Amino acid sequence: MTNIWSKLSKTYAEGISTTEYILLPNVARALDNVDGKSLLDVGCGYGLFSSFFGQRGARVLGIDSSKKMVDLAKKVSPKAHYEAMDVTKVSQLNQDFDYVLAVMVFCTLNNPQDFYNAFREISCVMKPKGRFVLVDEHPASKKNLETAVLKRQFPENSYFNSGQPYRVLLSTEKGSEVSFDNYQWTLEDYANTIRNFNLEIIGIKEPRPSPKTCQEHPELIYFLENPEYILFDIQKREKDA
Ligand SMILES: C[S@@+](CC[C@H](N)C(=O)[O-])C[C@H]1O[C@@H](n2cnc3c(N)ncnc32)[C@H](O)[C@@H]1O
Repeated sequence: MTNIWSKLSKTYAEGISTTEYILLPNVARALDNVDGKSLLDVGCGYGLFSSFFGQRGARVLGIDSSKKMVDLAKKVSPKAHYEAMDVTKVSQLNQDFDYVLAVMVFCTLNNPQDFYNAFREISCVMKPKGRFVLVDEHPASKKNLETAVLKRQFPENSYFNSGQPYRVLLSTEKGSEVSFDNYQWTLEDYANTIRNFNLEIIGIKEPRPSPKTCQEHPELIYFLENPEYILFDIQKREKDA
């Protein structure tokens, strides 16, 4: 089966304004002292975040299930190491990390088993007291939506339709379009799965652009007023509970 993200890789790497101007600054604030730390970027895509933290002194490994994305990351974002690997297999790395990052990856997982296994595997590669910053689409974001940079259609428009696909259409910064399915996961899905693996949510943020960013990028004003993203700051407990 062709990996959808391999097909989209080149166009996606043209850049997504919501990722660069909303998510990147918020993730940078959440992980503000990475110098000398080990960081695993799961679902690293073309390496935007891996490269950003590599430039700030972290020892970064980016993994992605799409080999094409990984090849692209090696070319366009060289400040990190990259490997083609599924998030549900990361314990095979046999390595512990200070930080794990997953940006817009869990919302692309299309079944409860992978959603569950991804948390289990990530917990396996975290150091005690290590942190995991997970950014995803906000479970309560409007699923039928049309903005200048993002459109969405959710035929079965119920918040509680866990695991149901909905169509996403994004415009890149060069004006091309990418379209793919994301999957609805509720707050209960996140919170109840996370606590299974010796993990604790220590903070939640709802990333949005700053008013200044909206002046420079008026296409982002919608995201100043509506919950579009959620950032879970998760810590591994020191000892097994
Ligand atoms: C929406 S993109 C986000 C990429 C990157 N984190 C960013 O924000 O620029 C989702 C990425 O997750 C990757 N992905 C999807 N399912 C995955 C899995 N099971 N294991 C590892 N990576 C996966 C895709 O190949 C794609 O590169």
